[in-house]
Amino acid sequence: MTNEIVNSALSKVMYPGFTKDIVTFGFVKDIQIDGIDVSFTVDITSSAPEVAQQITDDATRELKAVSAGKVVVNIKSPQMPKESSSKGKNIAPQVKNFLMVSSGKGGVGKSTTSVNIAIALAQQGKKVGLLDADIYGPNIPRMLGVADIKPEVNGNKVLPIKAYGLEMMSMGSLMEDGQSLMWRGAMIMKAIEQFLRDILWSELDVLVIDMPPGTGDAQLTLAQSVPVTVGLTVTTPQAVSLDDSRRSLDMFKKLNIPIAGIIENMSGFIAPDTGVEYDIFGKGTSQPMADEFDTKIIAEIPIEPSIRTGGDEGKPIVFVDPSSETSKRYVSAAQSIWAQIEKINAEGGVDNNAIQPNTPPGVSACST
Ligand SMILES: Nc1ncnc2c1ncn2[C@@H]1O[C@H](COP(=O)(O)OP(=O)(O)OP(=O)(O)O)[C@@H](O)[C@H]1O
Ligand SMILES: [Mg+2]
Repeated sequence: MTNEIVNSALSKVMYPGFTKDIVTFGFVKDIQIDGIDVSFTVDITSSAPEVAQQITDDATRELKAVSAGKVVVNIKSPQMPKESSSKGKNIAPQVKNFLMVSSGKGGVGKSTTSVNIAIALAQQGKKVGLLDADIYGPNIPRMLGVADIKPEVNGNKVLPIKAYGLEMMSMGSLMEDGQSLMWRGAMIMKAIEQFLRDILWSELDVLVIDMPPGTGDAQLTLAQSVPVTVGLTVTTPQAVSLDDSRRSLDMFKKLNIPIAGIIENMSGFIAPDTGVEYDIFGKGTSQPMADEFDTKIIAEIPIEPSIRTGGDEGKPIVFVDPSSETSKRYVSAAQSIWAQIEKINAEGGVDNNAIQPNTPPGVSACST
């Protein structure tokens, strides 16, 4: 046995989910050879037991193939923070739970939903962060009335902006007014990673993540960077929106993200003068889709002028008009989401990113 033989055998061991081997990654350390017996350390970034097991099995097999005797593989992996719900990779380990708010189609009310659900969770006593992961079209700063506030920088980290009891960060807060972004996929991934790693989030009970529409690089990067506890899909009742929402639910399924439910937005209209509820785009039309994905409509949010003005003026309805019917529906949806997060954690948490999907950068997951 020589170092070269060992290294060449271990170059055949791919890091689980990737097309690159553990030697090329630089994970193999401290090779000890005693006659034909070999021991070495593999210093990996994942703390998932499946990853460690697969590397151990593959390395042992490759070394035996070159006539090694006893093979000892010491896997060195990061310690998981005690309170985290995750078993997989988490580049924001101080955050206990992640809620991904998604839709197939743009303009259906993801950001509005994210803001109001986040505030409702905070009002229920949770420590909540809100990440605007819409790199091209960041709206959250305006919706929270902090569009003019620039974040404080601490060394090479950035402090989140505080609003309505939330911690918030958005590309909109980092860039100059109106500056448009023409970033390629790889940069979107980098931005999402930095939002998780380089923002000084507190110890959060939950980080609500407002996604750009669709199922692309941002969604995949997020799912690969943190264990997403639950996903929430926002849809409107029209058939065209439902078709796209199905893709969003299908993405959760493929990424192994438990579905917290569907918010049917712009579902009916409550007349402000009489309180009578009218059906405009249809109502409850997402029920068959909910059944198909074994989930529930956790709120039907009506079209309400104060939702739009609240968004434009940075005065979220759940905060400024908590006694309204719409606010009550957001609050009840937030309770339902939290109950599901607790249930998932009680059952041992999620491990949806324990083994990273083998997708090259720039390629969208789940595109159909
Ligand atoms: N239930 C509602 N009643 C009235 N207006 C609403 C309602 N929901 C959302 N809006 C308004 O519709 C517009 C689009 O909503 P929002 O920005 O939340 O959608 P989005 O899905 O995040 O869009 P994008 O895909 O562009 O990120 C906003 O002006 C918002 O204030
Ligand atoms: Mg949005």
